[in-house]
Formats: sequence, structure tokens, C-alpha cells
Amino acid sequence: MSIAKPLPHDAARLHVTGQARYVDDIPPPRDALHLAFGLSEIAHGKITKLDLGKVRAAPGVVAVLTAADLPGANDVSPSAHDEPLLAEGTVHYVGQPLFLVIAQTHLAARKAARLATVTYDEHPAILTIDEAMAANSRFEDGPRVYEKGDSATAIKDAPNTIEGSMEIGGQEHFYLEGQAALALPLEGDDVLVHSSTQHPTEIQHKVAEALNVPMHAVRVEVRRMGGGFGGKESQGNALAVSCAVAARLTQRPCKMRYDRDDDMIITGKRHDFRITYRAGFDDDGLLRGVEFVHYARCGWAQDLSLPVADRAMLHADNAYHLPHARIESHRLKTNTQSATAFRGFGGPQGMVGIERVMDHIAHHLGYDPVEVRQRNFYTASQQISETTKPQTTPYGQAVDDFVLHEITETLLAQSDYAARRKAVAAWNAQNPVLKKGIAYTPVKFGISFTLTHLNQAGALVHVYQDGSIHLNHGGTEMGQGLFQKVAQVAAASFGVDVEAVKITATDTGKVPNTSATAASSGSDLNGMAVQAACDTIRERIAEHLAQTHQTDPRRVYFENGKVFVGDDEMTFAAAAQSAYQARVSLSTTGFYKTPDLAWDRLKGQGRPFFYFAYGAAVTEVVIDTLTGENRMLRADILHDAGTSLNPALDIGQVEGGFVQGAGWLTTEELIWDAKGRLRTHAPSTYKIPACSDRPDIFNVSLWSEGRNREDTIYRSKAVGEPPFMLGISGFMALSDAVAACGDAYPALDAPATPECVFNAVNRGRTS
Ligand code: MTE
Ligand code: MOS
Repeated sequence: MSIAKPLPHDAARLHVTGQARYVDDIPPPRDALHLAFGLSEIAHGKITKLDLGKVRAAPGVVAVLTAADLPGANDVSPSAHDEPLLAEGTVHYVGQPLFLVIAQTHLAARKAARLATVTYDEHPAILTIDEAMAANSRFEDGPRVYEKGDSATAIKDAPNTIEGSMEIGGQEHFYLEGQAALALPLEGDDVLVHSSTQHPTEIQHKVAEALNVPMHAVRVEVRRMGGGFGGKESQGNALAVSCAVAARLTQRPCKMRYDRDDDMIITGKRHDFRITYRAGFDDDGLLRGVEFVHYARCGWAQDLSLPVADRAMLHADNAYHLPHARIESHRLKTNTQSATAFRGFGGPQGMVGIERVMDHIAHHLGYDPVEVRQRNFYTASQQISETTKPQTTPYGQAVDDFVLHEITETLLAQSDYAARRKAVAAWNAQNPVLKKGIAYTPVKFGISFTLTHLNQAGALVHVYQDGSIHLNHGGTEMGQGLFQKVAQVAAASFGVDVEAVKITATDTGKVPNTSATAASSGSDLNGMAVQAACDTIRERIAEHLAQTHQTDPRRVYFENGKVFVGDDEMTFAAAAQSAYQARVSLSTTGFYKTPDLAWDRLKGQGRPFFYFAYGAAVTEVVIDTLTGENRMLRADILHDAGTSLNPALDIGQVEGGFVQGAGWLTTEELIWDAKGRLRTHAPSTYKIPACSDRPDIFNVSLWSEGRNREDTIYRSKAVGEPPFMLGISGFMALSDAVAACGDAYPALDAPATPECVFNAVNRGRTS
């Protein structure tokens, strides 16, 4: 059977030979035009004059559009209709699109876009969390609060208390393929859009609004993305809508792709956060009460900020039972890029908060941080019985599948944690300049969209007369291996080799009303929808063969590319041919919706998640106390992918997630200047991890006992986002190394760049 096999990514060969086709690789039709935006140079103000004379006169320019020239809605927001495609008088951040240049070539469009003369009436800009709080500049009327028990009293009565505050930086997605779109005008008002997007239906919806046509007039196709990481859930709207509008006006194919610097300046990133905390605990480090305040810098438009900030609150517990908790969340509106989805969708920020509290408690009491963490874990799933009820999260969901006790014990043994912790201490006692640190952190991540209706998926499956299978589903491929996993599911249904299955580009004309491929639920949702469709066709074939062979349909088996009917056998192709000739339909749709979800986001109560994904990591680092430079020496990871659909792909997700998470908290630093200009807008100034930054020793395995208690596709677990948060162990290991340099708690901010580590070392020494 094709399930659980470590088969390579279906496009691996195409990726490495450069044949994989991305939007920019589609041979442009002969008369295609190219687009570029002219951008705001100030963070906040009114445009008093927009002189586009030089832009229009520039070589190769065909047309220049402003907001007034748009045929339909001037809005590319995925949520609150607060995001005009082109500015309407007021500008809200440096990099906001003001006008659209349509030219003969990509370069001509980009060059012309720089030639505008814009005069502004400049307003004061709100850039920072402090400025936004002072001005009460926010989305929603006030902060959102989730509460359980009485945290204030619990903290007051506890024998020990700590408090602190931490800055957590944002993150640029740095997908290898930048944002891109290509629109082809078809007959009448129809348009075909190729887009690098995680959300084809949203592109279809926004293009239809912009062209003032029904959704049926717009078809969106996505073969693949060269990475999305959440940055292509909503950020592709502006390009696709521009191309479609320009194609309508010129009746020529129109294409747009952002240059890397423009991509970084225009599009939203991970939300940066400030988290303040107060915790009360007993002498063993057991939490009695905890309070968090989240300050999320959301940028100028709402985008997905509300659900992102919600998910941060929903992960303020991570793996720990919080008997009394209060989580307050401020969603702040600032004159910066509109922050958006990014792997973990706010979960990582929330989780860093509680991991910081655990680390701080351990330092305060002088315990091994692993012990404090284990002591605060939720009750193990195995211990839950008639008499031992599961504990609940601060939002009221019972945690009945908690497997981190076992995962942690196995990981600590495999990684030789105890002995290495001693060795690190011995090293630090001997070496004044280079200090080592080691840290363990766990992950518990909730799986499902918190907007409940998004938890649905569809599929369309065809079996051809020769037994080959062609299918589509609503998910998009961004490198994560969704297509390969889903192909394995289909192959298993029909008992054929995975080579017999072809999945072609995601297409709104084949599977409608799709959700974004996001929240890690691509294979959970689309795998089930595809299985449902395949099972329907298989049952039709079985019924037909049972009739021709005068037997029971239950005596028809599909295995090893063959179909067994009673005592007879034939190839799957022969079975398909036979069904076709008997006029049996070999094509159908499939549908799936996640069961048992109930979530009231305003009250902050219910069961937002179908289940939790778990994992844990131990990371060891070394820092140079004279420069702050540092390296990850070793990381050991044990991750629960349930019964993995494809262990090779899942390990790839775990490795990539860990490195991306560690990069977020250690090297990737976004800097805006006092005028709100992003100064780190290229790889020269923004440092993502390179291959050489991965840990020298990197032991990654999937938990062998993993099995989803819930009825997911072959009992697998979602794996796209959860491992990202394993990177927190790298950050905590740096904190551990800094703690070896003095008595004070290091209280590192993120990202812990060499500069930040260096300063923390010196703070520790002088105090
Ligand atoms: N892996 C690769 N290679 N490229 C990506 O863009 N995106 C991540 C994760 N893994 C991403 C990735 C994010 S943010 C999500 S939500 C999931 O993949 C989406 O895919 P899935 O639901 O199929 O896991
Ligand atoms: Mo992933 S942030 O849910 O696209």
C-alpha cells in the first residue's frame, strides 16, 4: 500500500532540474504586458498632488492607472474591506501602492514607476507599540480577554512570583519565489488568472469584485508556489487583481511579479509582539496563576490580524496546565506593512510567552528547566479515566490526547540530555570566553481553522479507461508535499501504484469554494475529500464486477494494481475498461468537513481544535561572549506526525520548520527607521538561516508511537506548522548560555542576534 511510505516529493526531480514551472516560467503570450506599482515614500499623510506626467511619457509605458481608473471595487482586503488596491488620497505606510504602471516590459514598468512626483501633506506616523497604545490606535474597540479562574488572587497568594516583559520580532517570509500573477483575458468578460497563492478562491473572489463580474467569470489556476509560509494567503490579491484589471482594460495578457526588495517593502510579515507576564508558583515550580498581556503590531490594515492574535492567545498555555490564567490581547494599528499569516499564525508568539515564563521560573528557583516544564504538563492521555478527567485549556477545551510525557522521556534519553547538561556546566566552569547552553522545549499546537466554516474541502476524481487516475482537490502545493501525500491516499484507495495517479494544478473551475491551504490542515482536509471520491468510484467498479461475476461486492479487492473478483483477477486498467463499457460513471466529487468543532471567539470558549499536534526538541548552542556570535551545535527532535502519511516528507517539514523557527528568534531582524522605512529589505541586510547555520548535529525523528486518536486520514497528524515552534529551543539554549555569564536572569528579547546576546552577557556581568 502507498500509505506511510517515504516516497520522494512528486516534483522533486522537476525542482532540482529547474523544470518545475512557477508563474514566472509560464511562457508569456506574444503581446503580454508587464505591471509595476508606484509606492508611497512616506508612512502617513495625504497626497496633495500626484504628477504622473513623466511616468506616462517613459519608454514602453502603455497606461498608468490610479484608484479613479478602476472598473470595480478598489479593495484587496481578505477581511475588513479596509485595504484599497491603490491609495485613495491618504497613505498609510512606506511602500503602499499608489498607482499602477502597465508597460511593454517588466523593467520598463519598474523604471517608470519611480518617475512620479508626489507631494504629501505629511501626518505624524504611528510606528511602534508604545505609540499605538498612547494613541489608542487599534482594531476592535478594546483588548480581547480570555480568562480562567482567578489569576490575580492565585498570583497574590503564591509563595513565589516573577514578572517580566519581552519583545518578539516579526519575520519576513522569504519564500524563494516572490509574489507573482498572470491574467489572460478570455472571451466576453471572462478572465483566467495564474497566481502564486495559497488561496485560489480568495483570488477569484477579489478579482470578480474588482472586475464587477460574477465569480463564474473568473478562473484561477495554481500549479505550485515556491514557498508560501502564510505570506501567500492574502498578499497575492493585489497582484492578481492588478493583472486582471489591466487585462480587462488593455485586452492583453498582463503579468506582475515583485522584485525581492519591493516584495519585502510592500507585503505584510509575521506580527511582532510585546508580551508582558506575571506568574505565581509554588516552591516546586508548579504554576498557580499566570497573566499575559499581548501587544501585536498589526500594521495599517486588518488583514488576518484578528485570528492571528486569537491564535496567539490560544497558545498562551502551550503544553502546560494553567489553573488560573488571564490573557489580554491588544491588536494595534500602525503605519507599517499590514502584518499577515506566517507559519504558526500567532501560535509561535503566544508559545514563546509561556516558554519564557517556564524558563524564568526555573532560573528563579534554581531548577533544571526541564523539570519545571514536566511538572506543569497537562495530564497524560493514558492517565485519563472515569475518575481522572482531562484538564482544560484557558479556553475550555479538554486536553485528552496529551502525549508529551512519553515524547519528552524518549527524547531526553535519546539526546542524552542529563549527561550533556552536566558536560555543558563543566565546560562553562572551565572556559571564560566560549559559553555553552542547552535547552528543551515542547510544542502542543491546535489543529483546525479557528473560523469553523473553513474546515471543509472538496475533490474531483476521474478514472480513465486505461486505469490512469487524474484528480484535483482544493489544496495548493507550496513545497510541503501535499500533492504527493494526497496522491498516496488516492493510490491506496484503488490499490494501485502512486505513479498511476496524476494531480494537476489547483483550479477554481474544478473544485469550488476552497479554503486557503493553511492552518496545516491541507492533507487532513483534502486527503479525506479525495478518499471519499475515490471510495465512491471504487465501490461503483466493485458493484459492477460483482454483477458480472455473480458475486458479492464485498468479495472484490483492489490490490497491487489488480482487482480480485471472487476467484478471478484482472488489472485495474481492465476493471476500469469493463466498467466504462458497462456505462458506469468513473468520475465523481468528494467532500469532507471536520466534525465536532464548536468555538465562540468572542467569549473565548469551546473546542476550536479537532486535536493537538505534539513535538519536542533539545538544542545545544555555543556563544562567544566577546562578540555575541553563536552557533547551534546540536539539535535532537522527536515529533508526532501521528501515523505519518509519508515519513520522508514529514521529516522534511520538521527540519525546515525547526530551522525557520530558530531563524525567526535568532538571526532574522526587521528594522524600520524613525520615518517608518523598512531598512532590511534584501538578503544583504535581512539574515535568514543559510545551510551552514543548521545545527552541526541534527537528529530528527518521528515519534514511533504516533497515532491520531481522532479519525483523520489514516490516523495521521498535520505537520506543516507545529515543528516551526521547536525552534524556540534554540532561543532558550542561547538564554541558558548567557545565564552562565552572571547571576541575573538573561531576559533576552527576540531575535537574539549576536548584538543582543553580547549586550545580555554584559548586563549579566555588571549586575
Ligand atoms: N513547507 C514548505 N516547503 N513551503 C511552505 O510554504 N508553508 C507552511 C507549511 N510548510 C510551507 C511549508 C505553512 S504556513 C502551512 S499552513 C502548511 O505548510 C500548509 O500546508 P499543509 O496544510 O498541506 O501542511
Ligand atoms: Mo500557514 S501560516 O497557516 O499558511
